[in-house]
This record gives sequence, C-alpha cells and structure tokens, in this order.
Amino acid sequence: MTAGPPIHVRGLARRFATRDGAVEAGRGIDFDVARGEIVGLLGPNGAGKTTTLRMLTTLLEPSSGRATIAGHDVGTQAREVRRRIEPAVIFFDEPTTGLTRRAARTCGSTSADCASAPR
Ligand SMILES: Nc1ncnc2c1ncn2[C@@H]1O[C@H](COP(=O)(O)OP(=O)(O)OP(=O)(O)O)[C@@H](O)[C@H]1O
Ligand SMILES: [Mg+2]
Repeated sequence: MTAGPPIHVRGLARRFATRDGAVEAGRGIDFDVARGEIVGLLGPNGAGKTTTLRMLTTLLEPSSGRATIAGHDVGTQAREVRRRIEPAVIFFDEPTTGLTRRAARTCGSTSADCASAPR
C-alpha cells in the first residue's frame, strides 16, 4: 500500500492542436478517489471525460498537471500504473478504460511510449 489516495489528480490538462486551432479537452482537473470509492465522471459531450480516462490509463500524455495511480505517475511511470490497473482493464476492457489488456502488458514505461503501443 502507498500513502495517499489510490487515484490523485491535480491540475491535469490536455490540449490538442487541430487545423482550427488548439482545443482544450481538460483544464485544471482536480480530484481524488479513495480506496473502495465508486466515482462517476459526468459531463456534456466533448467535456473531456474520455481524454481524462486516456490520461489516467497512460495512453495519452498530459499537457500539464499530474495524476498518480497508487502513487505512480501516469506520465513517467506508465509500466507501474498499468500493472496496478490491469485487473480493471480485464473487467471493463477498452471502451471504458481506453486501455486494452494487451497494451497493459506490452507497452513501454512512459505514457509517450504507450500512445503508440499495439492495441
Ligand atoms: N485526438 C484528438 N485530437 C483533437 N481533438 C481531440 C482529440 N481527442 C479529443 N479531442 C477533443 O477534445 C474534447 C474532449 O473530447 P472527449 O472525447 O474527451 O470528450 P468526452 O467528454 O469523452 O465526450 P463524449 O461525451 O462525447 O464521449 C473535444 O472537443 C474533442 O473534439
Ligand atoms: Mg467520451
């Protein structure tokens, strides 16, 4: 066990460059999830829910801010994060988590490596 909440998110943000300019899919997202807590991520279409899950499952690098899973940073410690979340990946699989079981086992040690991992 690590100290602190199993899911810890502070100032998380993601920007996408598009032909029409930059899109902010999340800006300054802060939340914690305690052990055993069940959380729903709600928001209108395009609010950034899927983008947030993709960052938490190491498939997308945050533009800024920080998130840890069981004390491991999703951007720089992707391998450790995926080891902890693989049971959830098996249960929910890709539509919910954004991460396949195969990618959980094969992709590299940072979220940048994981973005191009085989699915
Ligand atoms: N790869 C991408 N490139 C450019 N823009 C993107 C990309 N992925 C997401 N976006 C944009 O980021 C914003 C958030 O998208 P996201 O899919 O995270 O929203 P969502 O809350 O999951 O929406 P929905 O309820 O429709 O599933 C949207 O404006 C979307 O168009
Ligand atoms: Mg979505």
